[in-house]
Amino acid sequence: MKKTIISFILCLFFPILLWAQTIQSPNGNLKLEFEVKEGIPYYQMAFKNKAVILPSKLGLELKNQPSFLDGFEIGEVVYNEFDGTWEPVWGEEKHIRNHYQEMKVELIQPATERKLIVRFRLFNDGLGFRYEFPAQLNLAHFIVKEEKTQFAMAGDHTAFWIAGDYDTQEYDYTESKLSEIRGLMEEAITGNISQTSFSPTGVQTALMMKTNDGLYINLHEAALINYSTMHLNLDDSKMIFESWLTPDAIGDKGYLQAPGQSPWRTVIVSHDARDILASRITYNLNEPSKIEDTSWIRPIKYIGVWWEMITGKSTWHYTDDFAAVDLNTTDYSKATPNGKHGATTENVKRYIDFAAEHGFDGVLVEGWNIGWEDWFGNFKDYVFDFLTPYPDFDLEGVKDYAKSKGVAMIMHHETSASVRNYERHLDRAYQFMKDNGYHSVKSGYVGYILPIGENHYSQWIVNHYQHALEKAADYQIMVNAHEAVRPTGLGRTWPNLVANESARGTEYQAFGGSKPNHVTVLPFTRLIGGPMDYTPGIFEMDISKLNPENDSWVNSTLANQLALYVTMYSPLQMAADLPEHYERFMDAFQFIKDVAVDWDQTWYLEAEPGAYLSIARKAKGKNEWFVGNVNGNESRTSTIKFDFLESGKQYIATIYADAKDAHYRKNPQAYTIRKVILDNKSKLSQLSAPGGGYAISIIEADKADTKGLKRLR
Ligand code: NOJ
Ligand code: CA
Repeated sequence: MKKTIISFILCLFFPILLWAQTIQSPNGNLKLEFEVKEGIPYYQMAFKNKAVILPSKLGLELKNQPSFLDGFEIGEVVYNEFDGTWEPVWGEEKHIRNHYQEMKVELIQPATERKLIVRFRLFNDGLGFRYEFPAQLNLAHFIVKEEKTQFAMAGDHTAFWIAGDYDTQEYDYTESKLSEIRGLMEEAITGNISQTSFSPTGVQTALMMKTNDGLYINLHEAALINYSTMHLNLDDSKMIFESWLTPDAIGDKGYLQAPGQSPWRTVIVSHDARDILASRITYNLNEPSKIEDTSWIRPIKYIGVWWEMITGKSTWHYTDDFAAVDLNTTDYSKATPNGKHGATTENVKRYIDFAAEHGFDGVLVEGWNIGWEDWFGNFKDYVFDFLTPYPDFDLEGVKDYAKSKGVAMIMHHETSASVRNYERHLDRAYQFMKDNGYHSVKSGYVGYILPIGENHYSQWIVNHYQHALEKAADYQIMVNAHEAVRPTGLGRTWPNLVANESARGTEYQAFGGSKPNHVTVLPFTRLIGGPMDYTPGIFEMDISKLNPENDSWVNSTLANQLALYVTMYSPLQMAADLPEHYERFMDAFQFIKDVAVDWDQTWYLEAEPGAYLSIARKAKGKNEWFVGNVNGNESRTSTIKFDFLESGKQYIATIYADAKDAHYRKNPQAYTIRKVILDNKSKLSQLSAPGGGYAISIIEADKADTKGLKRLR
């Protein structure tokens, strides 16, 4: 890591002065001010003199001792500037610049003789701040009752929000004014296997907003470690958000000790929506990689025995003979197979063949291990052992077969949210993976958490996800955790966290469908914290063709599905549909085969949350470029320039676009494919259908290849 530290540490002892503590972002656009008024700490922030955060209170309420809310005086204030560049192990670009002005404010509470520090970091694209609890005689162990961080909004902004919930983020986004959240909350809370909402104005982060005068504001958190997950609760009479932490089984919100700190609270802001996507604040506020040798961490494109179970065409479970199973005593060898089990040796080999033929790195197999007959909804402790295959899955045979074909097998650990059971088995399960050649695991936490009363996002289980991740690193295993807490940039510190689901993924297209513009919101919300295993690539939108009893419809055109490989950044990308569906559309499938999963550089060409986005990327270490456009509910002509390409060169672009009459519901499989010549002066105007989009692959042109092709001017 190359870094330059320009530090001008001013250790000044400030008297109490209104807004005396101020920093500006390196480019001067953002201004952060801090003051203590009548003993209460406040901060405010402006972008080019426009208020982003109005005066907002800071502090924490403690359970077992006086709170950190008032009675403060300002102590030492330390200013610092940092400018460095680091190289992520995987990512949207090769180099990330980390440039900020820092202000560390010491707050002294004379009545309790205790200290609290608030550390602010102001970047060109936003703010990060956190509480720090320095070691001191009067503060040892303490319990957080409530964190009382305010984010006072300067107006009734438009927000893209999902309901605040301690157990799931698998919701469609609602676009509304802040003042409308309360009225729309009931409708926004759609069904889930585990869900616990807490307030009619409670929402989740990352929260994306747009002001009436065109400012884009994003609220989230970074480096969520040993703390509970933050939601936001809106006081809609004043438009003030306040942090709302996830409680544990007895209602406490965090057990801390000094020295210690909270995660960072982040406010990303710009007048250009593209800057929100380009912001790297969340990663920059996380620590550098703790894994020294990262050579075993590799981006993966994979297929899997998965969509057939999600749609109900196949089953995870092996037999219908048992209403309940006991892993110690149930004799599967005597059970009758139900004839619909997906993870059979034969079926898995079919996927391995397909992966090998089309150049995929891996094959995921779900439902390979015993226990799926009664796997969720029962608070069953010993639900899986993560070791024993069903009788029709020849683990050894599959292992050898995959190896002979050069395909990696991807492990699946559904925990059914029985977390203690998973922890008991973790070492054995990871060792088993090592012994059998699995280098990555998809884990899952479906249902309510065991131990009973804990929530998916409370401190205890946040620590569990971290434990599983760090232990996986010991075994050189990459992790893709579903239903776990949404990411907060931890992939910088632990780059073996290659993806999470932790939002409403493609599976919901087979559970009744998602809104057609869902994928135009996710990059502004869920993806702010890290990559998503969204599982794109569905070519058959009519789910009843897979399972006559499932009348779901995938609200997307086929071209939109291709574009997702570019617009939904992840170093782990699935081609989620069945091999037989790809075989029907081999010309379009070519894009999924070609598209890269790791990048040297990214250009955000067009962006508007809820409406559209167009992104171009250059493949890591290769002269290949890919462009993706996803479109919202209305048809729209996207206009992009190719000035990101090198001048003086010719390129061939293959454009996979919606046909004129394409529509996510009426005609999703209507697409066109054309090849054109372009250079860095070329422009494209391309119509995208409702729920549609386009995908482009670009290579340098060899003179011979350009014959007969039209030039794009
Ligand atoms: C939910 C996950 O998101 C999905 O991908 C998985 O197939 C099921 N759980 C079963 O583990
Ligand atoms: Ca899920």
